[in-house]
Amino acid sequence: MSDHHRLFRRYLEIDAASEELVRRAAPALIRELDGVVSNFYQHIRRHKEAMARFPGGEAQLARQEIFLRDWLRSLLDHGTQGDNASRQLQVGRVHLDAAINEELMVAGMNWLRGDLVALCHRVELPEDIDRHELAVNLSRLIDFNLALMLTSYWRSFQERAMRLDRLAMIGQFTSTINHELRNPLGVIGTSSFLLRQRLEASGADAQSFAHLDKIARSIDRANSIISGLLRLLRIEQPDRAKIGLRIFLDDLHADLPAEEGLVLELRLPEPAAFGMFDPVQIGQVIHNLVRNAREAMDGKGRILISASSDPTAAEFLVQDDGPGIPIEQRERIFDPLFTTKSFGTGLGLTLAKSIVDSHGGSLRLEDGLDGRGIGFRIRLPHYYGPVRD
Ligand code: HEM
Repeated sequence: MSDHHRLFRRYLEIDAASEELVRRAAPALIRELDGVVSNFYQHIRRHKEAMARFPGGEAQLARQEIFLRDWLRSLLDHGTQGDNASRQLQVGRVHLDAAINEELMVAGMNWLRGDLVALCHRVELPEDIDRHELAVNLSRLIDFNLALMLTSYWRSFQERAMRLDRLAMIGQFTSTINHELRNPLGVIGTSSFLLRQRLEASGADAQSFAHLDKIARSIDRANSIISGLLRLLRIEQPDRAKIGLRIFLDDLHADLPAEEGLVLELRLPEPAAFGMFDPVQIGQVIHNLVRNAREAMDGKGRILISASSDPTAAEFLVQDDGPGIPIEQRERIFDPLFTTKSFGTGLGLTLAKSIVDSHGGSLRLEDGLDGRGIGFRIRLPHYYGPVRD
């Protein structure tokens, strides 16, 4: 049980005895869950912005009823125990992806609470169960789960705020760096060019030229870091449109340069799969990930790009079978200017993450192919932005 769980449990005064009471009443309550579930979706139907979160309409609601019934059964049977923590985070993420706002979440829990409490007073129960006490304990379990769901929202908000903070800081530094470093870099470049001409005229040794080459490469790198930082600042708001994933991947594939020794595979999704995103920006992200994979693999190996969509989001997965990234470096790979390569600016992944963030999506590191390499999963919610009446 995580610290969060322990804290919520303590504040809500949930203990072994209160959970046992709910568990004893569970069989009787579970028999009546159909009514609770169907009432919940009656509430959803009454609010058009809630209904709009189910693009699959009634068919999707029918599937959804099964999820909710399972969720309620597990709440009654296991309370705060079991594999609740990771399951709750996952459920929280699904709702975040589907752009269900906190107000709807709180209201949803309230609809469930109302019906469950009413059940406590109606169903047949063992004689020694105090109905009022049962209702209070059940209500606490609902609040416990509400708190966990809201924690997912809060965490995602914090992550985004931290990233924006960091980008704002980069913004301030970049304009200073741009002003203060471009000039000296230009002077170094010109002077080393003149020096090269003099050395050529006087027939200097190869080592002197090697040093000049090093200076030129370092100037290029410094310049491209500055340009990369400026690009990072100029990411525009995505121009989102409904995009068929098959066509998108096919076009993207045609744009990716072929390279000997490197196998680039596509796993195409079903024809109806779609996403809501800016095709230019997301194309740039995937290009970036493929380029990274190529460079990490030194031009030899396999890269697989796959795509899929579900009712709430589209996903892309870019995997390779290269050397991978050591565990201790994994947390830092999205940090600006962090790079594992001897070349490159260390901004590619920061740029990719910023683009995905501005779509309200997530970019996560995953396992690669055949137990080697790495993978990046891009998840892009179909709905993004606050949902208001
Ligand atoms: C408040 C209590 C709620 C509970 C306990 C609940 C529970 C769940 C569960 C267990 C899932 C499946 C998660 C998964 O795929 O792993 C889910 C998905 C979903 N929920 Fe909720 N939910 C709640 C409120 C809401 C509300 C208020 C809406 C508003 C529209 C909503 C919309 C959705 C949508 C759109 C999905 C994804 C459906 C899909 O993938 O087909 N939920 N919910």
